[in-house]
Amino acid sequence: MIIETDRLILRRFDLSDLDEFAPIMADADVMRFSKSGPWTRERTEEFLQQCQVDYSEARWGYGRLAAVQKTDQRVIGFAGLARFDDVDGSPEVEIGYRLHPEFWGRGLGTEAAAASRDHGFGDLGMTRLISLIQPENVASVRVAEKIGMSCEKGIRQWDLDLRVYVISGTAAQLAHAADARRCHVSCIRTHRATLHSRLIRGC
Ligand SMILES: CC(C)(COP(=O)(O)OP(=O)(O)OC[C@H]1O[C@@H](n2cnc3c(N)ncnc32)[C@H](O)[C@@H]1OP(=O)(O)O)[C@@H](O)C(=O)NCCC(=O)NCCS
Repeated sequence: MIIETDRLILRRFDLSDLDEFAPIMADADVMRFSKSGPWTRERTEEFLQQCQVDYSEARWGYGRLAAVQKTDQRVIGFAGLARFDDVDGSPEVEIGYRLHPEFWGRGLGTEAAAASRDHGFGDLGMTRLISLIQPENVASVRVAEKIGMSCEKGIRQWDLDLRVYVISGTAAQLAHAADARRCHVSCIRTHRATLHSRLIRGC
């Protein structure tokens, strides 16, 4: 299973990705907004092993994917989907993304997240995807907004204050069809229309 974007390949992790991927997950900036902080090499190895389980049809049939730069085949982070059994009382599928800081600010996070969204709604037939984001994580909030997500509510989970960003199947189809500018305009309109209710919901 391979997803291709303009500049990235999203593909399933292999255990041999450890040498390239472990330094990314050990980076304090990459892991600043996470419940665990930077990962040890052993923790990253466990993650790669868990990914192999998640990919199997007996479990989810999908999972987090390696984000590989097309030009040199370098693993620069991850993007993709993960299932959480209990998010504020409900099962959810989350779009996640973490990139090496060297690659921030070039639109790659948005590119990887949009591809993950399209994979979920397209190939996997999902109708709702979320992202769990700490409000202080401005870059992640912007990525979520740019792929058409909006804040549904604020929750307290894993000892963190999180916002649940959501996109439904209908909105995803619109976002998929829209060019970047139209999507941006739509996000601004949504943002204005829901500012008041977000305050009430903790967004
Ligand atoms: C979140 C992350 C993947 C974004 O990747 P990226 O490639 O830099 O994102 P993009 O270049 O696509 O930028 C998306 C938007 O965020 C904005 N942005 C990026 N970094 C920002 C920052 N530090 N502060 C404010 N805005 C920022 C960009 O300007 C852009 O918005 P714009 O088009 O309106 O200008 C990256 O910052 C990262 O890996 N962070 C650490 C891991 C993490 O926190 N993951 C999310 C966990 S919920």
